[in-house]
Amino acid sequence: MLDRRDLLKSVSLLGAVSYGVPARANATDRVAPSPDPEVASGPSPREVLSLNKGWRFFEGDIPFPKILGHGWSYANAKAGSAWGAAAASYDDTEWDSVTLPHDFASFQVPNELENLAQGYRKRGIGWYRNLLKFEESDRGKHIELQLDGISTHATIWLNGTLINRNWSGYNSICVDITPYLSYGSALNSLVVRVDADAMQGWWYEGAGIYRNTWIVKRHPLHIETDGVFAHPVKTGDQWQIPIEVTLNNTTDRPQSAEIVSSLVDAAGRVVSTCRLTAQLPPMQTGVVTGRMSVQYPTLWDIDSPYLYQVRTQLIQQGHVLDEVVTPAGFRTQSFDPDKGFFLNGRPVKLKGVCIHQDHAGVGVAVPVGLLEYRLHRLKDLGCNAIRCSHNAQDKAFYALCDRMGLLVMDENRVFNPSPIHMAELEWLVRRDRNHPSVILWSVFNEEPMQGTEQGYQMVRRMVAKVKALDTTRPVTAAMNDGLFTPVNVSQAVDVVGFNYQYQNYDAFHKAHPTLPITSSEDCSAFMTRGEYKTIKDKHIIASYDDDAADWGTTQRVGWKAIAERPFVAGTFVWTGFDYHGEPTPHQWPSNSSFFGIMDLCGFAKTAFWMRQAMWCSEPVLHLAPHWNWAGQEGQDILLMALHNMDEVELFLNGRSLGRQTGDRYEMNRWSVAYAPGKLSAVGYRGGKVVKRFEVETTGAPVQLKLTPFRPLMKGDGIDAQPFTVEALDAKGRHVPTAQHSVRFTVEGGDIIGLGNGNPNDINREKGDTRALFNGLAQVIVQTREGQSGPLVLKAMAEGLKTATLRIDVQAAQPWPYQAVSKSVQITENWRRAPEQAGPLEPHLRPKDNDMNSWGWFRAGVPFPAPDRDTEVLCAVEVEPYAKVRKSGGVIECLGLLGPATLYIDGQKVAEKASDDSAPLSAPFPKGAGKHWVSLIFRARGGQPFGFTDVVRIRA
Ligand code: GAL
Repeated sequence: MLDRRDLLKSVSLLGAVSYGVPARANATDRVAPSPDPEVASGPSPREVLSLNKGWRFFEGDIPFPKILGHGWSYANAKAGSAWGAAAASYDDTEWDSVTLPHDFASFQVPNELENLAQGYRKRGIGWYRNLLKFEESDRGKHIELQLDGISTHATIWLNGTLINRNWSGYNSICVDITPYLSYGSALNSLVVRVDADAMQGWWYEGAGIYRNTWIVKRHPLHIETDGVFAHPVKTGDQWQIPIEVTLNNTTDRPQSAEIVSSLVDAAGRVVSTCRLTAQLPPMQTGVVTGRMSVQYPTLWDIDSPYLYQVRTQLIQQGHVLDEVVTPAGFRTQSFDPDKGFFLNGRPVKLKGVCIHQDHAGVGVAVPVGLLEYRLHRLKDLGCNAIRCSHNAQDKAFYALCDRMGLLVMDENRVFNPSPIHMAELEWLVRRDRNHPSVILWSVFNEEPMQGTEQGYQMVRRMVAKVKALDTTRPVTAAMNDGLFTPVNVSQAVDVVGFNYQYQNYDAFHKAHPTLPITSSEDCSAFMTRGEYKTIKDKHIIASYDDDAADWGTTQRVGWKAIAERPFVAGTFVWTGFDYHGEPTPHQWPSNSSFFGIMDLCGFAKTAFWMRQAMWCSEPVLHLAPHWNWAGQEGQDILLMALHNMDEVELFLNGRSLGRQTGDRYEMNRWSVAYAPGKLSAVGYRGGKVVKRFEVETTGAPVQLKLTPFRPLMKGDGIDAQPFTVEALDAKGRHVPTAQHSVRFTVEGGDIIGLGNGNPNDINREKGDTRALFNGLAQVIVQTREGQSGPLVLKAMAEGLKTATLRIDVQAAQPWPYQAVSKSVQITENWRRAPEQAGPLEPHLRPKDNDMNSWGWFRAGVPFPAPDRDTEVLCAVEVEPYAKVRKSGGVIECLGLLGPATLYIDGQKVAEKASDDSAPLSAPFPKGAGKHWVSLIFRARGGQPFGFTDVVRIRA
């Protein structure tokens, strides 16, 4: 991993990198992290299979058919009988094939008629379907479906049974699907209806199954999901890890087992172990607790984020039944009402940013490699903390923050202690409480009830819920009002979060000297990257840090107010990156925000160097703007030095323009009559030159250049990373004013999104073409599974030399995937006719109001042997898929035991005479409408008969 100082060095170099081409991660062995941080490396009895493949997607709603008649009304009320697109046998063969994560709003062109909050992207409703296959050997396992994030309301059916309704676009959904499953050649239909018209925020929320999905197979005696809590605590001089393991027994008998938790250091050595025993009755959940003592652990800190792992095994008679790996970092934390935040006993000012989760090009479906890039950009900035505003992030985010030494304020979305929302809060704390990076739980952001008795009572309950799960971190709430009312939320939290309200820091501290406070949100300052003149009607905001929202303030004033008050634990600047939506202070065509220290691609705005200068002690010196002002010779240009020097001297073409005493908060400005050439700044500390910066007037652009974030990628079809494209002049200098349209091609990978950081660009962020915006654009490329060798990316623009970049793609073990099937029609809801005297009529079918004389079954399991020879009729009503209706097809009974005759609409179509289990098939007629398929078995006394497999119809 790169040292932050290296990154700082590389971003403050002279020349081409000066105007925001992100520093390249140069360690050759760095590849993207795994999307599931909890999977043990090496063999594990727990199988974690990605379910990201094989999905079919329909954008739009598919209304449920109106239920009519008794038979349908009755069936509609039953498990396994979902109708319409939720039915297992619904025809989805014409739907699009998609691989998750998938944000269908990110494919939209911004449209003035849509909501500005959502980046003017249409969201709407979408349906996803998949067919899952489980082997006979999976029978008996505990199988869980995990969906890490769906925007926004989701309804989920498995094999025609509604298994979940989820109301949050930010929490994961875990369902024990074992009872619904069929094994062998049977297919299991999983259907998700997503309603993304529902909004939970006032920012871009995306649409669809936008995070990873998993199938987790475990022993039926197992550790529950998020069921290990093992976060180190220090009491006096002693370090301990209290262990809490939640077990679940879905076997049919009482079980006893041993639980062994081991603390493993970064070199893989076991440094402490805790052994516990558990007894658990069938179908019960139980919690087992214990503790581990640890002598002299290596501490986790922001500059040295040393991580241990706790490996928890569930063992029965020497067999490991289940295993979970959780991160562990040894660190102490406290908030002092006078001195702010302490990490490991040392004061640490929180230099934080608020972020939303979307990125240019991909919306909220952010691959882990791109997430890593974003966090590296924040490290480059000198940031040490992130607020997850205003919702949980993907689980990979927290693992990366642990690894990179970033502190996290983890935030709950919905302020409401009612059971469904309390469950969301509980999920958040359970999932994230092992991460050393997490230092604060935030229960809300800016709630109008914050200054009321009701708000206070609501927060008390939410705080109690958090404390029941984790007492090691304080609870906060981000308040933008109500701090001084007689009953308010600040009385119910451990740390008071201030959104804006700079004028109240002192008054509140004076009135409540024992209450720690932090900014939870500040600034909301505006700038457009690479622009230096505000042009209101073009929605352009100059980058001199002169503009902020009415409720906010500039980067410099905001930081000064916090930096000079030791009792304010720190800042969380609104925001680290621009995000889609909320284009305040503008509206259409602006469709992303202006608040970011970086733009939507993670390219630096002037605020980036400003923050570096204010936050870091290493020398920082940078000049804004660029020095390409052809046509404005002799006119005054406002120049700003972003620096942390004692003094700065400025030179134009070797002539001094004066030496100014530096102001750490204000920065320094000059007004300089433009003349092309070289502008340079020399920075002094203690009278000595410690830093120089130069910017030159460039020539016209002649070529393009591509720069990757990482020099190496993994050929697993998951890894993705951004590439920066820029225009250079004949001397290889970055041209900050180039606006060329650039077309990309890629061999050995796929473009998954494009961006340029221009909040006013209304082009779609997909495809292969994007204009440079003030010299820069970004293309995000994903590898393909099974690929190794070079990925070749080309960037082309009219009149410029093409840039070609080869990136090594390392062969990678493919992520294990759940087996899925392409769309196929399986007949379902079979009925068995009651025994009849005399021969059976093949056209016999159940009466619509008769619920009781005909039986129900799923084809696949034979019937028990009758006492005597008899005939049994089974029937099912089917509506063939479109292709069969158009051209006809084949009906395939994959396994029939005993002699049987197959009929379609009462007409005999095939016959089987043998006693053993064998397939039987026949042509299926074309034409619209429903058909009755019947089978008459000639069962023999004492011999089982019937279906040993499914019956399907294919084109
Ligand atoms: C805050 C809010 C943020 C964002 C910001 C813009 O009030 O918490 O989500 O809207 O304002 O200034």
